[in-house]
Amino acid sequence: MKVAIAYLSYSGNTQEVAEFIQERLISRGCSVDMHRIGIDAPIDPSGYDIVFLGTFTWENGRTPDEVKDFILEIGYKPNNIAVFGTGDTQFGYYCGAVDRLVNFFNSKWSGLKIEQSPRGSQEQLIDYWLRGVMERVRHIA
Ligand SMILES: Cc1cc2nc3c(=O)[nH]c(=O)nc-3n(C[C@H](O)[C@H](O)[C@H](O)COP(=O)(O)O)c2cc1C
Repeated sequence: MKVAIAYLSYSGNTQEVAEFIQERLISRGCSVDMHRIGIDAPIDPSGYDIVFLGTFTWENGRTPDEVKDFILEIGYKPNNIAVFGTGDTQFGYYCGAVDRLVNFFNSKWSGLKIEQSPRGSQEQLIDYWLRGVMERVRHIA
């Protein structure tokens, strides 16, 4: 299975989630391309079985501009996007960007929300979510 993980991270939390997902997928035998939004060359989602899209949330639940640019760069709404993100419950709309992106892409998968760093007990949340996502990919493929 060919997978891309596209993510935006300023202070490293979303990157940690992306790398955790990467590690798990590689150990399942997937081929994984990492894409740093705003840095790496554009990707074509149609070349992948699934694209994981990760973002943090900004100012009252907003999606960062770099992520919006990434979506514009793709130029269409792929149906193979699974969304994950990090946020902080002390802000107004916790992980609002995850909800917005799930709705925008009409994603087949619920979004994964992680509070700050995934290290510790939240790793189980990622594993549980990832299992659900991969089950459905296999079902469709
Ligand atoms: C100015 C500012 C605004 C933020 N606004 C929100 C928000 O509205 N909702 C939320 O869930 N998290 C919010 N956060 C928290 C970040 O999304 C969170 O720290 C995230 O893990 C950062 O990801 P990164 O380490 O990958 O850059 C905000 C953080 C900052 C600094």
